[in-house]
Amino acid sequence: MSNSEVHEIFRDIEERFKHRTLKSAEHNARAKHRLPGGDTRTATFYKPYPAYMVRGKGCYLYDADGNEYIDMLNNYTSLIHGHAHPKVMQAVRDQLESGSVFGSATEIQYFHAEHLCARVPSLDLVRYNNSGTEATMFVMRAARAFSGKDMFIKMDGGYHGSHDFIEVNVFPRQASQPGAEGLPLPVVEAGAPKSVLNDMLVVPFNDLDAVEILLKKYEGKIAGVILEPILGASGMVTPQPDYLKSLRELTDRYGALLIFDEVITFRISTGGMQKDQGVTPDLTAMGKIIGGGFPVGAFGGRKGIMDVFDPNRPNALFHSGTFNGSDVMMAAGLATLELYDQGAVDRINALGAKLRNGIEAAFKKEGIRGQSTGLGSLAQIHWRSGKITNAMDSAEGFSRAGDLPRFLHLELMNRGFYSAPRGMLAISTAMDEQIIDKFFEAFAGALDLLKPYVVEQAPHLLVP
Ligand SMILES: Cc1ncc(COP(=O)(O)O)c(C=O)c1O
Repeated sequence: MSNSEVHEIFRDIEERFKHRTLKSAEHNARAKHRLPGGDTRTATFYKPYPAYMVRGKGCYLYDADGNEYIDMLNNYTSLIHGHAHPKVMQAVRDQLESGSVFGSATEIQYFHAEHLCARVPSLDLVRYNNSGTEATMFVMRAARAFSGKDMFIKMDGGYHGSHDFIEVNVFPRQASQPGAEGLPLPVVEAGAPKSVLNDMLVVPFNDLDAVEILLKKYEGKIAGVILEPILGASGMVTPQPDYLKSLRELTDRYGALLIFDEVITFRISTGGMQKDQGVTPDLTAMGKIIGGGFPVGAFGGRKGIMDVFDPNRPNALFHSGTFNGSDVMMAAGLATLELYDQGAVDRINALGAKLRNGIEAAFKKEGIRGQSTGLGSLAQIHWRSGKITNAMDSAEGFSRAGDLPRFLHLELMNRGFYSAPRGMLAISTAMDEQIIDKFFEAFAGALDLLKPYVVEQAPHLLVP
C-alpha cells in the first residue's frame, strides 16, 4: 500500500463520520461563533468536530442526527449507573418538588456525609463543593492550614482539575531537573502563574526513591504528597504492589500528609482505592460519581485536620460556595451511592477485567503491539508494549502512535461506541457482558481497518 492509499483510510473514516453527523456539523458551525471551537470543555472536543449529544438512557447515548452510541465514557467515569437511572431520577424529581438549593444547612447534606464516611476509611468529616477541581484545591488548603507548611509533592502527569497550584506537569515532562537526575523538570502549564513552582515539587508515579529524596531535601517544609492512586488522565497507570503502602510509611516518617485524589478511583471499591489497597490517607478528595450525574466535589479526612473548617473555632478556615451541598446534587448522589453496593462493584469490576483482556487479545490477534491498563471498571487503550509504570511511559506510546488514537476513536464512533478521544473507557452498571462483546467486535473491526497504516507508518508497532 502506498503512503497516499494509507491516508485514504483516515480520509474514509472521517468522511463516514461527517456523513453520519450532518446536524452536529451544523451545530458546530453555529456554536463556534460563541464557544471557542464550538465546545466548552477541552477534553470533550475532537476533530473534525464533536458529535452533539441530545439524550442518554442507560448505557446508550443519542446524538443530534439520531445515531445511537454505547457510552463507554460515562461523562469521564462519573455516570456510574449510566444515564437517567430511574431511581436516581425519582430522587431528583422528589427533591425538585421541594426546591433545589436553600442557602442553608439541610438534612440531606449530613445523610450524604454519613453515607460517605461509613464507606471511605479516611473520612471522619467531609465538606462539599461543586467540582473535583474545588475538592483538590480545598484539600490542599486544609493541608496547609493544618500543617503550617506550603509545599506539596505531586506526580508527573497527575491530573487533579484545573486550579493554579495543581497545573504543574499535568502533561508529563521528559527533561530532568538540573542536578537531580531522574526527577522530572517542574513546568507550569500555560496560563497558571510561574510562582506556583516555588511550592510544587514533581516526582514520577511509582518512584519511591524520588519521593524520599524530596521529603529529605525539603524536610519540615512539605505539607503533603498528593496523588491519584491510579494515574487517570495520564493513562490509567496502576500503582506497583506496596507503592501506596510505602508512600504512607514515607510520609509518616517525614511528617507530611498523604492525600489521595479519589475523584475517579472511588469507584474501584465500595470505599475507593484506599479501601481496596488497605492504605488510609490523611485527606481525600472526591467528585464524579458521588454527585449522581450533577456537579459535585467533596473533600475530607481525619477529624483533627478537618476541624480547621469548624466555624465554632476561632480563626476557622473559610470555605464557602453558593451551591455547596446543593440539595438536588445530594439527593442524586445519595441515591446513586445506595445503588452502588458490593454486588454492583463486583459486577462492573468483572466487566472491566473482561474489557481489558479482550482489548489485549484483539491487539494480539491483529499482530499489533498494544495493551490495556486500568483496574476495576476502568480501562485505557495503549499503543505500545512493555511496562507502563508512570505517565512518561504512557505518553511515549501515544507520541509514537501518530494519528492512530484519533482515528480509532472516530472509527469506534462510526461503529456506535463513544469513548474518550484519548482511548479511556469506563464501565457503568447499565452494561452487561453482551455490551462488552459488542465492543470487542467494533474494536477488532477498527484495528483491522487501521492495520495498513500501522504497517506503513508505525512499523514499530508490528509484532514480528
Ligand atoms: C483525578 C481527578 N481529579 C480531579 C478532577 C477534577 O474534577 P472536576 O472535573 O469535577 O473539576 C478530575 C477530573 O477529571 C480527575 O480525574
